[in-house]
Amino acid sequence: MKILMVCLGNICRSPIAEGVLQSKLGSDFIVDSAGTGDWHVGQKPDERAIAVSKKYGINISNLRARQIQTQDFDEFDLIFVMDQANYADVLSLAKTKEHREKVQMILKNEQNVPDPYFGDDEGFEEVFKLLDEVTDEVVNQLKSK
Ligand code: 4NP
Repeated sequence: MKILMVCLGNICRSPIAEGVLQSKLGSDFIVDSAGTGDWHVGQKPDERAIAVSKKYGINISNLRARQIQTQDFDEFDLIFVMDQANYADVLSLAKTKEHREKVQMILKNEQNVPDPYFGDDEGFEEVFKLLDEVTDEVVNQLKSK
């Protein structure tokens, strides 16, 4: 089972989501992340994302940003997006119904994981907490299958 986490820049929300989910699932599952945009390709996660993850015992400093590509829809079983803009952007790249059906907003009720990039450390704490909670639900879903 392969799961892809997607946000805009692949330096704040989706690397945290990748690190947290991978730590909960272990090596039977492959978790990766990507951005819809290409501005940060090749870069490490934002220092604040690295710091908040480290604070909770998760090392994401080895991750490097990449942009989502069409072959990801074949390669991954599930694609979680962080907000409605990511959802629209990712769906616009999907070529088939099967591909579209792999894409889900990570939070329920079309809620967004807020973009913390232009905010402060508090925003990164909030994002970490949201992703920690929702990935518990993702793990339960996956393990009950
Ligand atoms: P992310 O945050 O989508 O959670 O990685 C952002 C990172 C960079 C930018 C926007 C959001 N940016 O505009 O460069």
